[in-house]
Amino acid sequence: MGLSGSRSSRDRPRWRVFISHTTELRNFPEGISYVAAVERAISAAGHVIVDMDYFPAADQTPAQVCTARVRSCDVYVGILGYRYGCPVRDQPEVSYTELEFDTATEAGLDRLVFLLDAGADDTGIPRLDKAEVELAERQDAFRRRVLDSGLHTRSFGSPADLGQLVERSLREMADTRRRISSGIQREQVPAEPQPVRSSKFINPPPTVAPAWFQGRQGETTLLARYLASPDIRMVSVVGRAGIGKTALVCRLLKGIEAGRVPDQEGGAAAVTVGGIVYLSRNSAHQVAYPTLVADLLRLLPADKARRLRLMSQKLSPPDMMRALLETFPAGKPVIVLLDNLESVMDSEREALAEPALQAALTALLTAPAHVLKVIITTRVTPTALLKVEPARQRQLPLDEGLGSPDAENVLRELDEGGRLGLRDAPGELLDRLRLLTRGFPRGLEAVKAILDGDRTVTPQDLVDRTDRVPEDQVVQLLVGEAYGLLDASARQVMKALAVYPAPVSEVGVDFLLRPVNPTLDSAPVLRRLVRRQLARCHDRHYDLHPRVHSGRAAGACR
Ligand SMILES: Nc1ncnc2c1ncn2[C@@H]1O[C@H](COP(=O)(O)OP(=O)(O)OP(=O)(O)O)[C@@H](O)[C@H]1O
Ligand SMILES: [Mg+2]
Repeated sequence: MGLSGSRSSRDRPRWRVFISHTTELRNFPEGISYVAAVERAISAAGHVIVDMDYFPAADQTPAQVCTARVRSCDVYVGILGYRYGCPVRDQPEVSYTELEFDTATEAGLDRLVFLLDAGADDTGIPRLDKAEVELAERQDAFRRRVLDSGLHTRSFGSPADLGQLVERSLREMADTRRRISSGIQREQVPAEPQPVRSSKFINPPPTVAPAWFQGRQGETTLLARYLASPDIRMVSVVGRAGIGKTALVCRLLKGIEAGRVPDQEGGAAAVTVGGIVYLSRNSAHQVAYPTLVADLLRLLPADKARRLRLMSQKLSPPDMMRALLETFPAGKPVIVLLDNLESVMDSEREALAEPALQAALTALLTAPAHVLKVIITTRVTPTALLKVEPARQRQLPLDEGLGSPDAENVLRELDEGGRLGLRDAPGELLDRLRLLTRGFPRGLEAVKAILDGDRTVTPQDLVDRTDRVPEDQVVQLLVGEAYGLLDASARQVMKALAVYPAPVSEVGVDFLLRPVNPTLDSAPVLRRLVRRQLARCHDRHYDLHPRVHSGRAAGACR
């Protein structure tokens, strides 16, 4: 599928647009029919109309003619009313319109589908006659199938409505195609040659803690102490989804990158590290043995790294790990973050699914003294790993949400402009919300997302609504509701982010969603999702909060 179709002299795209419709839409209403309105819009945009009315007589069967005609086009426009229309002569199990839709789908055409609104006052189309009533069930099923396919559709009630919708959709589609094609070129060709840069901090951190991060002073200080202790090689931060594990660790590591430990009142000694490697399931640098080795090598001088890289082909993971550990100079610690370790665990055995990673981490724990330190964040306790050299490990359980007034502060901060009724709410109400969410940071964010998504809901409503819900289900319920309030485009964007293994650019999302929504401009949708704390943005690339990969919202997402 070409991105832009052929171009006219004024460099406007010129597409062959197939119009799929049943006969009554061409005949009614008298004056300007639905199809006539669509044709006007297509011509006005400078495109070529292709309609099945123009089918020439040929030696092929009707089904063959129909599919060949659809396939010859750049864009499919389906107008679906309540009549099923004629079954195809040589393929009577489908009507022409259904066959055209399926062909456009198989051929990967950009599809614009418009559905006649049953609730419209006067559609100008006569009622179904007896024969058509019998086929109406098939049309219902077809319409349902189109809707359930996830395709972005629009509904119309009059020819004027429809004409405007088609005109606008074609314009948006041209914009989307242009954006995708220039964006892809831009992403393929780096703006300027990338200088060889040696940084001590490998990969972006999986999250940046918010400016309104509250509390966790005790845990932060403890974690910093563990990192400073030469006897400790591995720390596991364990706690349920959304409790704030990644934010806690990344805030500390960001401070360490800048040479200080957060929450230390003046005069604290400067911290220096030999380097930090961030591995996370939400980035291109996954928690896996090959990435661990490759990214640690990036911290070594080029000649040593080259030598070790060559050896890595032959050495077993424990031997390779030991060789690496010996190569790092003594002195400054090198920190590796393995974020969301549970995502690479076999949760039944509470052990790592990748034997090479298990062996490498075991070697790191058992080897003679070295500078490497691993921080793990995980929802599931890595029981098998904890049994290896337990004296060299520490666990940092994160069981509790934020207390008072930290949770209340977060709620107020999340409502920067005061429009959600949180910033200026009485302390008592915020305290109720804290108790309700048990201070779980992700629950607090869900409160914001719900209020932001439905301005008729007040904080008090949320308290009332969740009064009888069992405590352990409130956060899940809030998160699910925040997702439920999204419109169709935002859900599509969330879906696209959920299937993408690494953070993706705006253009990447447009491209990914083109089969179901060829007119989408995802940029404002992405910004809205970030504002509502439902997605994250880093370096103009977006990914989902891990909650959407699992748990309740994921079900709704699929
Ligand atoms: N102490 C805090 N103050 C304010 N916001 C916080 C705090 N801790 C976490 N958050 C915010 O809450 C959200 C959830 O936190 P985080 O991603 O760290 O959870 P997690 O425990 O790592 O979850 P998961 O198991 O899904 O990875 C994030 O948006 C984070 O910025
Ligand atoms: Mg996390």
